[in-house]
Amino acid sequence: MKSKLLGLFSLIGFLLISLNVVAMQPPKEMITKVELGPVNPQLVKVGKGLFTSKCIACHDLDQKKVGPALRNVTKERKPEYIMNVMYNTAKMQKIDPVYKGLLAQYKNVPMPDPNFTETQCRSVLEYLRSVAK
Ligand code: HEC
Repeated sequence: MKSKLLGLFSLIGFLLISLNVVAMQPPKEMITKVELGPVNPQLVKVGKGLFTSKCIACHDLDQKKVGPALRNVTKERKPEYIMNVMYNTAKMQKIDPVYKGLLAQYKNVPMPDPNFTETQCRSVLEYLRSVAK
């Protein structure tokens, strides 16, 4: 009886420690407000480089590939949505109704998190704004 209790307590202790380890990962807040000014050419340049190296495998501007064409995504979606798709990819796949619809449409192939900083996401957003027609 005693040893069973001891076992139970060690299990609880172990679970609490593992929870702590998970909680220690830096929390990423959802982006709730994006201020848009005129398209920033410096960020566009950086964003184009990032897009070409990290996104082009799955996204073309004009044609559907593994993921949707992105030329006019800044006209179809809010900037906060686009930022969060890059910044909080897994969370968006869980909570955003629009994104979840897309996920189903793309046969539940989840886009991988690019692990960008907020500034890198913003650069890609500026690039996408610059290519919209
Ligand atoms: C391995 C393939 C892959 C890579 C790499 C990838 N994506 Fe995606 N992306 C997808 C898929 C597939 C979807 C559709 C939703 C889903 O299934 O997750 C998507 C959806 C999106 C959407 C939502 C479009 C809409 O109409 O709502 C945006 C925005 C987006 N991706 C941007 C990017 C950007 C920017 C990058 C580069 C940092 C990137 N993706 C890298 C596969 C990818």
